Amino acid sequence: MGFWSVLTYAHKLAEQRIKPGETVIDATAGTGADTLALTRMVGPKGNVYSFDIQQEALERTRSRLIEADVPADQVQLLLLSHDQLQEALPIASHGRIGAVLFNLGYLPGGDPTVITQPDSTIRALDQAFDLLRPGGLLCVTVYPGHPGGELEAAKVDDWFSQLRPEAGQAISYRMLNRRSAPYVLAAEKKHITQK
Ligand SMILES: C[S@@+](CC[C@H](N)C(=O)[O-])C[C@H]1O[C@@H](n2cnc3c(N)ncnc32)[C@H](O)[C@@H]1O
Repeated sequence: MGFWSVLTYAHKLAEQRIKPGETVIDATAGTGADTLALTRMVGPKGNVYSFDIQQEALERTRSRLIEADVPADQVQLLLLSHDQLQEALPIASHGRIGAVLFNLGYLPGGDPTVITQPDSTIRALDQAFDLLRPGGLLCVTVYPGHPGGELEAAKVDDWFSQLRPEAGQAISYRMLNRRSAPYVLAAEKKHITQK
């Protein structure tokens, strides 16, 4: 039968925490699988902000949403880097975001040299955690197996390891006997918000 895939695991974590009607973020739109799943979790009264630096990714995401009959005004597709999360989100939503999902690496079927970069990913994680409401979820699917992926994975591991327990719980979901396989790191924010 096998264990849950990283995608299934990330979605389980998200659906357990996201409340209908709230605002959530897909920090790496890619092909739109996470964005679509998030629209279902927040329901018709909720909002999804979806970021990618590639127009191709946003178009693929848009097509997926249209095929699934998601109302266009439910998702904001933003051609921005995720280290611009704070400035892109309305101030009123800061501290009220239910979940931020990241899926690192490159666009499947796209240009494999356009990949998430360690420094901007870390800046984005800082911003994402600040944006969460208490009880909100930060979830990152990490790909250590492609060129550059291992370095980014090490930095993201450090970020989660250094999260103060007073600020949140941090966990991992990883295959221990296949170290190059993708894995999930996640944090749930506590009421004390200092990192
Ligand atoms: C593995 S894909 C995401 C997969 C996606 N979640 C899905 O469901 O298909 C990674 C995406 O991150 C995007 N990306 C790379 N650097 C980025 C950045 N700084 N900000 C936002 N997106 C970025 C890439 O363009 C790519 O589309």
